[in-house]
Amino acid sequence: MARIDVRHAKGSFRTPIVLASGPAGFGFELAETLDFRSLGALTTKTITPEPRAGNPQPRLLDAPGGAINSIGLENPGLDAFRGNVLPRLRELATVRIVSLAGRTPDEISHLAAALETEPGVDWLELNLSCPNVRGETMADRPNDVAAYVREARSASRRPLLVKLPSCDNLVALGEAALSAGADGLTLINAVRGLRICVDTGRAFLARGTGGLCGPAILPIALARVFEARQAFPDTFLIGTGGVTRARDAIEMLCAGANLVGVGFGVMADPAATFALAAEIEQWLDERGIGDVADLVGAAHRGGWSVS
Ligand code: SIN
Repeated sequence: MARIDVRHAKGSFRTPIVLASGPAGFGFELAETLDFRSLGALTTKTITPEPRAGNPQPRLLDAPGGAINSIGLENPGLDAFRGNVLPRLRELATVRIVSLAGRTPDEISHLAAALETEPGVDWLELNLSCPNVRGETMADRPNDVAAYVREARSASRRPLLVKLPSCDNLVALGEAALSAGADGLTLINAVRGLRICVDTGRAFLARGTGGLCGPAILPIALARVFEARQAFPDTFLIGTGGVTRARDAIEMLCAGANLVGVGFGVMADPAATFALAAEIEQWLDERGIGDVADLVGAAHRGGWSVS
């Protein structure tokens, strides 16, 4: 049987499938019926220093090929996360990636330092790309990215990922994150989108725009992961955006992702998401490919010949 575990010097993953931050919450409801051993990791909802109620309703909407959300980082805040959430997270049979956001680099430092001695926090992911809290965590200048990452790096020795948006200066942002001490990049977040009610002429979402997720953004995410793999041949990448099927995940690996994040997919069909790793394994076995690592970046090497 093919190997589907993903090895990294700072920690390994049982499979290449990661629950992306957001739709799975903290995973508890899913853990009642689904086996977390079929996942490589769970990424938590993003935690901020203080609790947040998120954006006003309505904040979730259908869109062609997916959905638009404007949740706005609703979360219980650091203290409740440590006291109520982490003890339960520790029981999940998978790697835990804790997603963090702050209004300033100092807030990131505070969060990272507070979690440094907590068992059960396996990796950190800085969310610098939420499309729903304008002017706050959307770090779109390399200097800002570097400032956030430096603070996290000096406060924590945990392996550190940085989640970046789909943007034309992605490589510059990635370079800034990696130079400041990130161990890898998560690409991409939901893409800003808008829908308007034709009966009223007003935006459907209370906040106007939101983040488009789902199959509609798969080609965008693939292009960004491909671009990042070209720029950073040895960097650890989580490719996320629009993956709902095993063949989407395989495309993401071929584009250059080491791990594949699933967000909208887990909202649409959690059981199908948990079955992805077994389907990838079967796909590899049918083709005599011995290790999922052989797929990573295949599109950069000219793919393979079909007999
Ligand atoms: C949200 O809370 O608005 C979604 C999280 C994200 O897109 O980073």
